[in-house]
Amino acid sequence: MNSTDLKASLPAAIADRVTSLSLRDRRAIVVLDVAGLSTSERDEIELQIERIVSADDAVDEVSVVMTAERFERQLIAIGSGKGGVGKSTLTANLAISLARMGRKVGLVDADVYGPSQPVIFGTQGQKPEARDNKPIPIESRFGVPHLSMGHLVAPGKALAWRGPMAGNALAQLVEAQWGATELLLIDLPPGTGDVQLTMLQRFKPAGAVLVSTPQDLALIDAARAGQLFDQADVPIIGLVENMAGYACPHCGKLSDPFGSGGVEQAAERLDLPFLGRIPLDHAIRQGSDAGEPPAANGGKLAEPFDAIASQIDAWLSAKN
Ligand SMILES: Nc1ncnc2c1ncn2[C@@H]1O[C@H](COP(=O)(O)OP(=O)(O)OP(=O)(O)O)[C@@H](O)[C@H]1O
Ligand SMILES: [Mg+2]
Repeated sequence: MNSTDLKASLPAAIADRVTSLSLRDRRAIVVLDVAGLSTSERDEIELQIERIVSADDAVDEVSVVMTAERFERQLIAIGSGKGGVGKSTLTANLAISLARMGRKVGLVDADVYGPSQPVIFGTQGQKPEARDNKPIPIESRFGVPHLSMGHLVAPGKALAWRGPMAGNALAQLVEAQWGATELLLIDLPPGTGDVQLTMLQRFKPAGAVLVSTPQDLALIDAARAGQLFDQADVPIIGLVENMAGYACPHCGKLSDPFGSGGVEQAAERLDLPFLGRIPLDHAIRQGSDAGEPPAANGGKLAEPFDAIASQIDAWLSAKN
C-alpha cells in the first residue's frame, strides 16, 4: 500500500486527526493532531494506528508523532492551603471577568467534596447532557460554561468521594465536552489532597493562583500549597488576598481583627507576584449566594476581580 491507501485504511475518526502520513524505507511516520484528547485517548489512538499500519506488508516500523496544532486547552488552577478563604468566589468572578475580556473560558469545580459553583452561577438543579459519554458543560448567563460534581450527582453525594475516586471524578469534569473553550479555570478543594495530586499528574496546569486571607495561619498554609505546585513545576502566577477581615461562619457578623496587606508581604517574602486584593464586602457574599456574581455587573465590586483577571490575561499572552 502507498501512504494514501494506508491513511484510508484507518477508521475515519482517527484519519480525521492524521495531519500527514509518509512512508519511506519501509518506515511509516504518522503525524497525529491530539488537541483536546485525554492522555488515555491519545494512548489508545496511538496503539490503534500502530496495530493497523504495521499490519501492512510495506511497513516494518511505525512512528506516531503527536502534535496539538488546533489548540491546546490551558488550565489554570486556583488553590489555597486553608478552606473558606474565597477560592470558589474568586474563580467564578475571574472567569466572568476573563470572558468579558474576550477569553474563551470555562470553569471546572474540582471541589468534588463540597461543590459550590452551581450556587454561585445559579445553575443548581441543572443536569448536563452527555455526548460520547462525556458531559456537556452547563451554559450560564455570564458567558462561562462550567461543570461541577454538584451538577452530576444528587446534593450531598459529592461529599462521599474517597482517594482515587475523587481523582476520577475530577477527570470526568476536565475531560468533558469543552469544545472551543481555550482556557479552563479550576476551582480546587482546599489543601493538598488527592484532587490536587490527580490534577498535577494528569492535567498539569499552565499556572496556579493562590488565594489567602491575611491571617498568619492561612498564609503558612498558602505557602505549603505553593510548594506543591512548585515541586510539580507548575508556575505560580501569583497570590491574591481575599477578605481583608473576618466573616463569622456562624452568625455572618463581620469584624476586622487581622488587618490587610499580609498577603502582599508574604508574596514579597516568597518572591512571588502579588495579583491584588479583594475587599471583604457583604455584597460579594450575597451575590455569590444568589447566583449573581459581582464581576458580572461591571460595577464597583467587579473592579478588583477585573484587575486580577487583566494580570492573568497578560500572563497568558506573555506565555504564549
Ligand atoms: N471578599 C469577600 N467578601 C465577603 N464574603 C466573601 C468574600 N469572599 C468570599 N466570601 C464568602 O465567604 C465564603 C467562603 O468563600 P468561598 O466558598 O469562595 O471559599 P472557598 O475557599 O472556596 O471555600 P472552600 O474551601 O470551602 O471551598 C462564602 O460564603 C463566600 O460568599
Ligand atoms: Mg470552594
